[in-house]
Amino acid sequence: MGGSHQLTPVFTRETIHSRVVALANQISTDYQNQQLVLIGVLKGAFVFLSDLARSLSIGAQIDFVSLSSYGSQTVSCGDVTMDKDIKLDIRGKHVLVVEDIVDTGITLSYLMALLKSRQPASVDVCALIDKHERRQCDVQVRYAGFTTQDGFLVGYGLDYNEQYRELPQICHLELESNCC
Ligand code: IMP
Ligand code: MG
Repeated sequence: MGGSHQLTPVFTRETIHSRVVALANQISTDYQNQQLVLIGVLKGAFVFLSDLARSLSIGAQIDFVSLSSYGSQTVSCGDVTMDKDIKLDIRGKHVLVVEDIVDTGITLSYLMALLKSRQPASVDVCALIDKHERRQCDVQVRYAGFTTQDGFLVGYGLDYNEQYRELPQICHLELESNCC
């Protein structure tokens, strides 16, 4: 396996909390008196969605999807597999997809096309982190918590090989190689 991980804090729990509350306030205003459905993308969005939903001042239905994409370099937009679909009927409702990070946009462009085919009143995206400089597929992020450049982030739901999802803050992860 070789190599240990160095974690450098990027966003503290307090910084995350105030951004999540600000996003929830904006969403509560924008979707007032509308039927809102939050669709979380597993697993990464589970922490963000649970904090966001509890900060809303309007009602919302909640469901989850699980998607797999295979190595961003080689896949084209839409080349994604759905492992778990939603159960809610979204026809005529306002859908907000809640994602941890939008990077290439490959995962979300597939999901957006699929959800739009089910004739909701609207479909938009709320992402905790928008790495928009690496975008390959055209995905508009309506609500973004933070915008970052390159670099791999973990914590607050985000993982590296299923590690670090439980951290309350978001950290930059660097691999320190033991070899050579
Ligand atoms: P993409 O937009 O299809 O390239 O994929 C975005 C997904 O890749 C996110 O939902 C994450 O699951 C994962 N991902 C991208 N960047 C990071 C990161 O910095 N840390 C953890 N997961 C990431
Ligand atoms: Mg994800």
